[in-house]
Amino acid sequence: MSEMRMEPVTGPSVWTGAELENDSSWQVTLGEAERAALLAGMKTVQSKGLWLHQMRAEDFPLDDALKGLVARIRSDVRDGRGFVVLHGFPLEELSIDEIRLAYWGLSLQLGTCVSQDSRAALVADVWDRGQKPSPLVRAYGSRYKAGLHVDLADVVGLLCVRQADSDPWTTLGSSGAVYNAFLKEHAELLPMLYEGFPWDRRGESRPDENPITEMSIPIFSYADGQLSCRYNRAWILGAFARQKRELTNAETVLFDFFDEAAERTQIAFPLRPGDLYFASNYTVLHGRAGYDAEAPDLSQKRHLLRVWLNMPGMRRFADPASTRYGLLQHGNLGWTGAELLARKHLEPMARRDFLDEAFA
Ligand SMILES: [Fe+2]
Repeated sequence: MSEMRMEPVTGPSVWTGAELENDSSWQVTLGEAERAALLAGMKTVQSKGLWLHQMRAEDFPLDDALKGLVARIRSDVRDGRGFVVLHGFPLEELSIDEIRLAYWGLSLQLGTCVSQDSRAALVADVWDRGQKPSPLVRAYGSRYKAGLHVDLADVVGLLCVRQADSDPWTTLGSSGAVYNAFLKEHAELLPMLYEGFPWDRRGESRPDENPITEMSIPIFSYADGQLSCRYNRAWILGAFARQKRELTNAETVLFDFFDEAAERTQIAFPLRPGDLYFASNYTVLHGRAGYDAEAPDLSQKRHLLRVWLNMPGMRRFADPASTRYGLLQHGNLGWTGAELLARKHLEPMARRDFLDEAFA
C-alpha cells in the first residue's frame, strides 16, 4: 500500500466547479488553422488508404498549429487541471468515418491509443442502446445518469457528434478535491480508500480470465508526491454483486460520501456537436446527466465518439500493476491497432509489458 498522507492535496489538478465558472482557461476554441490542419491530416490518411488500425502518429501530418494544440492538450491533461475542453472540431460535411479518422489522428499524437471493449473498438460509439442500469453491464449504452467515475486507460477523450434534444450536461470533477473532502469530513475512511476494492470486469473478460480483478485497486494512492485516483462505483459494486457480498455500513458511507463530495465540487457544462474533451483518469472524474428517451433511428440519436489512450511521461505510481494496468489487461481491452492487426489479442499470454511506457 502507498504512503497515506494526512494533509490536503494541492496543485492545479485540485479545483472546484465554482472556481472554474469564472475561468475560461479550461476551454479552447479551435482556430481556422487548427481546423484546416485536422482536415488536411484526415485527407492525407485517407489518400494513403489507411484505416484506424493501420495509422501511426507519423501518418497524420502536423503543422505548427496542430503541434501547439497537441502540446497544450498534453500539458493541461498531464500537468495542469487534468482536462481540457475543445470547441469547434470540424464535423461539417464529413462522414462519420472521416470524423473518426480526424479524431483518431489527433488522439494518436497524444499517446498510445488502445481498444476499449469486448469488440476491441478503438473509437467507440457512445449512444443509447436501450440498456438499463445493471451492476454487471457497462453504462455507455444507456441514457441514464452516469455518476462521476474514471475510465480504465490513462486518458479518456469524448467527442460530441450529435447531442440529444434534452441536452444532458457533461460533468467533470477533481478527484483531489474529493480526497480533501474525505480528509476533512471522513478521515476515518482513508485506510479503506488506500486499500481499495476489486473491480468487476463487466463481462468483458475471456472465459479463461477471472471475471473480477485478482487484486484490490486502490481508490487513492500516492507516488512522488502525486495523488492518483481510481474510482468507478458501478464497477466496484459489480464485484460485490458477483461475489454475492453485502456492503458493510462503513463501505456504504464511503461510496455515498465519495459521490456526494464529487457532485458537490463538479463542474457541469453542455457538450455540443464539435465539442470534445480529454481528461486524465488519475485526477479527473467524468460523468453526465441522464436524458429523455430518443427515437430509435441511429442517425438522430445522441452520438459521442470515445478514445482511450496511455500518455507517455504520465506520472509514477505506487503500484503500476494495480493502479495503471490492473484494469486494462483483460479480454479485448488495452490493445493497440497494430497489435489487433497482428491478432495478438487472440494469443494467450501475449500482453505487452506496459511498464516501459510509464515514464517514457
Ligand atoms: Fe466513462
